[in-house]
Amino acid sequence: MKFYIETYGCQMNVSDSELITTILLNAGHEQAESIDDTDLLIFNTCSVRKHAEDRVLGRISNEKSRKNTKRSFLIAVVGCMAQRMGETLIEKGIGVDLVIGVDQYNSIPDLIENRSTSKAATAVDSDQIYHQLVPTHKSSKCGFVTIMRGCDNFCTYCIVPYVRGRERSRPVDEIVNEVRSLAQGGVGEITLLGQNVNSYNYQGVSFAGLLMILSQIPELIRLRFVTSHPKDLSDALIDVMASHTKICKHIHLPMQSGDDQILAAMNRKYTIKHYRGLVEKLRNAMPNIGITTDIIAGFPGETDAGFANTLKQIEEIRFDYAFCFKYSNREGTSAADLKNQVPEQIRLSRLQAMIDLQRDVTLEKFRAQIGKTVEIYAEDFSKKESHKLSGKTDDYKIAVATGDPQQIGSLIKVKVIDATAGTLICE
Ligand code: 5AD
Ligand code: SF4
Repeated sequence: MKFYIETYGCQMNVSDSELITTILLNAGHEQAESIDDTDLLIFNTCSVRKHAEDRVLGRISNEKSRKNTKRSFLIAVVGCMAQRMGETLIEKGIGVDLVIGVDQYNSIPDLIENRSTSKAATAVDSDQIYHQLVPTHKSSKCGFVTIMRGCDNFCTYCIVPYVRGRERSRPVDEIVNEVRSLAQGGVGEITLLGQNVNSYNYQGVSFAGLLMILSQIPELIRLRFVTSHPKDLSDALIDVMASHTKICKHIHLPMQSGDDQILAAMNRKYTIKHYRGLVEKLRNAMPNIGITTDIIAGFPGETDAGFANTLKQIEEIRFDYAFCFKYSNREGTSAADLKNQVPEQIRLSRLQAMIDLQRDVTLEKFRAQIGKTVEIYAEDFSKKESHKLSGKTDDYKIAVATGDPQQIGSLIKVKVIDATAGTLICE
């Protein structure tokens, strides 16, 4: 069959889609050039917020009509929604034929084969780390490598530990082999993925230890990682980041809230004082580090004063960028049962206030780069201006620059001549 995967949600899903591609290619299936050319349309889905789920359900309903013209056309749902909703996705009657959970990707070929008898595979397998499978990487110059799966943190708003199961780390040698073979194939910038990379641990090798090992790979140009949990960010990691030039000076450190009471209710296990201490340590060790974050507005029980504390932290910390979300009630999480839910209108207005404030900070940070010479890893041609190159600075700022196509896949020095709140314009 020809298959086509549409991926939603986080980078972990992008990486899982690459894994599923390998599994299907190994079973003799073929990647479709486009959605119009496919027999099997796979939706790799996200459950973190309700909005993300609704969008995919809408997309599936839209694609159902393809069954009228191609009788053999199949729709499969994989990923977090598949795990969370199971066979009810089929029962909804929106056109879903197959449902495969996050630990069952190896059974996709069997399910396709035996679809008349079995349509769903969502069993939890807390040991599943997809041993020995090398994902089919999409981009030729930048790649993602999953180093751990699952999460044990149970932040009270979050569905991830329920759908992705317990935390487990991949073996060091599998990760090293994957990174090395990517780097040797010209993928110069690699991002390591995990829900909480700071708690990586494989037979005594910590995350800082893993970074040290990977930085020795000669062909690798740059190493990044997401996501870091503030409760587990160690001094050893800060030291390794500061002392290895290949490790990018960027950290994504979700703050979630600027209010201690809300942080406690979220089960984040740190205070704002601790978080500020980490920011200070990071900036002392690496003065030019880029710090990005995730923040949620309108968690149950968040008062006006509590939210004001979040705005205060955004103003004082001055993140390079913040992903701002409005709290979304996820059935099955412990916050969903809290009685003091914040009305939707207030959640929305708080979200807007956060976005507006952060946009000003981001713009200021980006404009402060004008006139400087920065180094970018040229990834590709710019999507908007195809004669220009696109890339990122070490501290994770997107840049477009005039340059020679032959420079794609290498580090180039460029001068910043202008900036928006999201892109450095360089030459
Ligand atoms: N509502 C809103 N945002 C959420 N996130 C996780 N769960 C929820 C939820 N229920 C956000 C967190 C996390 C990011 C990936 O998504 O900020 O860091
Ligand atoms: Fe969700 Fe918290 Fe785990 Fe992140 S650390 S995936 S927010 S439970």
